[in-house]
Amino acid sequence: MALDTETFSILLDTVERFVAERLVPLEAQVAEEDQVPADVITEMKELGLFGLTIPEEYGGLGLTMTEEIEVAIKLGGTTPAFRSVFGTNIGIGSQGIVMDGTTEQKAHYLPKLATGEMISSFALTEPEAGSDAGSLKTCARLEGDHYVLNGTKRFITNSPSADIFTLMARTDPDTPGAKGISAFIVERNSPGLSVGPPDKKMGQQGAKTADVILEDCRVPAANIIGGIAGVGFKTAMKVLDRGRLHISAVSVGIAERLIKECIAYASERKQFGKAIAEFQLIQAMLADSKAESYAARTMVFDAAKKKEAGENITLEAACCKMFATEMVGKVADRAVQIFGGAGYISEYPIERLYRDVRLFRIYEGTTQIQQLVIARELLKDAE
Ligand code: CAA
Repeated sequence: MALDTETFSILLDTVERFVAERLVPLEAQVAEEDQVPADVITEMKELGLFGLTIPEEYGGLGLTMTEEIEVAIKLGGTTPAFRSVFGTNIGIGSQGIVMDGTTEQKAHYLPKLATGEMISSFALTEPEAGSDAGSLKTCARLEGDHYVLNGTKRFITNSPSADIFTLMARTDPDTPGAKGISAFIVERNSPGLSVGPPDKKMGQQGAKTADVILEDCRVPAANIIGGIAGVGFKTAMKVLDRGRLHISAVSVGIAERLIKECIAYASERKQFGKAIAEFQLIQAMLADSKAESYAARTMVFDAAKKKEAGENITLEAACCKMFATEMVGKVADRAVQIFGGAGYISEYPIERLYRDVRLFRIYEGTTQIQQLVIARELLKDAE
């Protein structure tokens, strides 16, 4: 346990209150304006949310995986756009440095990421390399003590506000696939780097994604994560193992929020002379949603414990990501059904959350990629 029990319990209560009292009332505004207000971001920094998972020696809270899961479930109590503000700093943007960075890289970047002074982003996906991440084309050519990067990264979360990118590029053009890839820390102000206009998305307004374009972008050779070329794909996969567990926990949190909304609405809404909650067909939908979200909750804590025990959780993280994100999709769909016409109208939060959660089945590896990972791990065991 990184924090003592009492301190962690205070943190959890604080996050729960921040979500309920500060963030939930702002959900509609954020969706409308496609922007999280600056004062909310300042409060997130003051609460230490940007440094939840960064080791204490670098100024973060150093939460364990289980603690991170607990906080992520609480954060799921509101629109995922809020979590996204600091989600890359505590996850895919920083974890490459935390896991594989040199002492110098950690000392230079992590303290600034922990306070939110710097925003990080994870740049793996490309126009022609999505699920097949190992086929990425962005190239990095060594010239003296710099690499020169060329290529385009696509759908990069938080790139419009990012100060640094954990960016995967091919340092060995003669080695196809995963082995020729290296992970770099690329600073936003590197010459030759530009960020495209924010993408127009189906949901999660307030969370920004955009292209990152590299045109003869010069990056110091010292910025290869860990100082070793050719192992960047593994760094990316390890980061994603952890990220997938985090997204699973957020999915559980949102499912629990949706169930709460459904219970309140079904208890209030009257048809045929009584509250619709009294009808067994409504009860069946509530029951299915609860059982499935409970199963996902149990899975993520089990996987987190295994990770803390030092086990490889590639298979478990993929199971959690597949099950929890599909689960929240079904829970959101039932919520629309329980709300009926009101579930289709944007005045209620259900319509928005329904669109927001759709992304979870796609990013950080689609459901189909999770199936593939699970099957590969199973078959590996049989070898
Ligand atoms: N941990 C450590 N190493 C791993 C690993 C893991 N989880 N998974 C694979 N590796 C290693 C392998 O052991 C292998 O190393 P060796 O050759 O030394 O044995 C190497 O990496 C290559 O592995 P594979 O042969 O399995 O690679 P592959 O090309 O077949 O691809 C894949 C595997 C699972 C399909 C992978 O490409 C993948 O996960 N694709 C999905 C990509 C993805 O999740 N993208 C999301 C983008 S990020 C995002 O969405 C964030 C955002 O902005 C919000």
